[in-house]
Amino acid sequence: MHYPEHLKQAVLAKAKDLPLEGFVEGQGPQQPKVMLIGEAPGKEEIKENVPFIGRSGQLLMEQLQQVGLSRETVYITSAVRSRPFSVKTKQIAKTGERVTKFPNRTPTKEEIKIFAPLLDWEIAVCQPELILTLVNIGLQRLLGPKPTITAVHGTVIQSPIQTFDEQSQNYHWTQKTYQIIPLFHPAAVFYNYRLKEVVKEDWQVVQKQLQLLKKV
Ligand code: URA
Repeated sequence: MHYPEHLKQAVLAKAKDLPLEGFVEGQGPQQPKVMLIGEAPGKEEIKENVPFIGRSGQLLMEQLQQVGLSRETVYITSAVRSRPFSVKTKQIAKTGERVTKFPNRTPTKEEIKIFAPLLDWEIAVCQPELILTLVNIGLQRLLGPKPTITAVHGTVIQSPIQTFDEQSQNYHWTQKTYQIIPLFHPAAVFYNYRLKEVVKEDWQVVQKQLQLLKKV
């Protein structure tokens, strides 16, 4: 979705000297049942200008399809809309050559705050019935630092969410209550095989919740 230009420009002005690359807009229908909130785009996403198109994205699309959802029916976005990178220089032992790489990194709290008005705007416009958050970044952007993904993954949380308040430069809680299911990163099973069953069960919770939404 195209963000209002003044909102986007204000965010980019604040982000301009930070180690961030590119800008990927959220994508999906304007009145979706489901919104998915990730962490930040990676290299592939920045290159193609499409969220969740890399390896993790492909896994996520498979997980969505298994519960009857797709890229076309879900609004997909993330806490930060540019790629956070770190700078790593190393010397190659054989040649003595110095090589600099710019790998992805987790966004900082400051970066998440800078991009918060964009996500707040997306949620206000989309009014999703169900929000799926990925990893701690997506979860804690909405619910603050207390709940951790390890403790609350795969549970249905009914709660107000944090929105950024320009005046106090801090988060406030919404009046409205949202329905949120926190999920692990789509590639989590690759790093920890024991999570395979857990991730499967979490998506079964999503499926059940979608069926309940259909009935109301
Ligand atoms: N992780 C995210 O949060 N967003 C993407 O677009 C890709 C990976």
